[in-house]
Amino acid sequence: MTIEITNDIKYIGVDDTSLDLFEGQYIIPNGIAYNSYLILDEKVAIMDTVDSREAEVWWANLESELAGRTPDYLVVHHMEPDHAGVIADVIARYPNLKIVSSARAIQMLPQFFEDADFDGKTIAVKENDTLSLGRHTLQFIMAPMVHWPEVMTTYDQTDKIIFSADAFGKFGALSHDEEWACEARRYYFNICGKYGVQVQALLKKLATLDIECICPLHGPILKENLSYYIGLYDCWSRYDVETDGVFIAYASIYGGTAAAAHKLAELLREKGAKKVSVADLCRDDMAEALEDAFRMGRLVVAASSYDGSVFPPMHDFLHHLQLKSYQQRRVGIIENGSWAPCSGRIMREMLDKMKDIDIVEPMVTIRSRMKRADIPALEALADAILA
Ligand code: FEO
Repeated sequence: MTIEITNDIKYIGVDDTSLDLFEGQYIIPNGIAYNSYLILDEKVAIMDTVDSREAEVWWANLESELAGRTPDYLVVHHMEPDHAGVIADVIARYPNLKIVSSARAIQMLPQFFEDADFDGKTIAVKENDTLSLGRHTLQFIMAPMVHWPEVMTTYDQTDKIIFSADAFGKFGALSHDEEWACEARRYYFNICGKYGVQVQALLKKLATLDIECICPLHGPILKENLSYYIGLYDCWSRYDVETDGVFIAYASIYGGTAAAAHKLAELLREKGAKKVSVADLCRDDMAEALEDAFRMGRLVVAASSYDGSVFPPMHDFLHHLQLKSYQQRRVGIIENGSWAPCSGRIMREMLDKMKDIDIVEPMVTIRSRMKRADIPALEALADAILA
């Protein structure tokens, strides 16, 4: 499949619908697209390759669009193997081609391709350097830590297109038509969530450009209503609240903690919460739970005590939140324990390590099973979290 973006810019990327886990950890029920582009000007530039899993289809797309021409440049925006998997084969096939990338990316090349010789085959570019292809002038804009340190983006000054690397990407193959925000949000918070400051820095640079089209490395090419996508990226990278609601995440061994979590959800709804979502951390997608925690302004964590600590699925969830710089949120705690409840203390200690987390009192303690006597404490927590 190739797609015409403009007369002389073609999509030559590939859908991967058989990968079990993206980056070795994220489920992708609707696959993933490895985006790659070709600019056919006086000089010909390939914009990134794909994961080596899909090399065969990518080569077919490339050769079909080249129609016998030889590429002059391979612009590498990001060295992660989902985009850089075919670089060594490209330089082997086109000996005169030059790789255009950040100095940091060029340093990384031998780490991935032991047997390739990159001597004399690279051009290191810096902030705002330009490269003329003929009609098109490419302007390079560095985007370190969106999502790796070597990342850069490219602005096509001629057609007002930003090749945005991982920014504005989403899970899901292009052949799967779906709403953008849900899988873009899950992608963003799990992959770039830690790097809000760096995403803000990139957004400030992009705000100075006249952009008519965003060509990311995953997900659809964005041509309309760009302020919607940029607005969401601004919200997410500031760690602002996107949805006014309460997200309850629980980790329950025999169902006692789960019952308390669902009772709290019921009370919150009765008390007029605009949106309440509940996730079972033992069974639901961790990446989606993390996304929901960032999306909403209030979080309640409910977990059993376990081996003098907290039940591991909750430990894992809080560890993920800390890794991704979870911050600026109000959080309530429900603990459960049959003889020495301690999960509340452990959860509090983990939350205390995160930035600007306001722990909402009272913490609720359940002994084995939620009982009628526990309802007033859950009511008090519901009132406090909504206050
Ligand atoms: Fe799509 Fe960070 O690679």
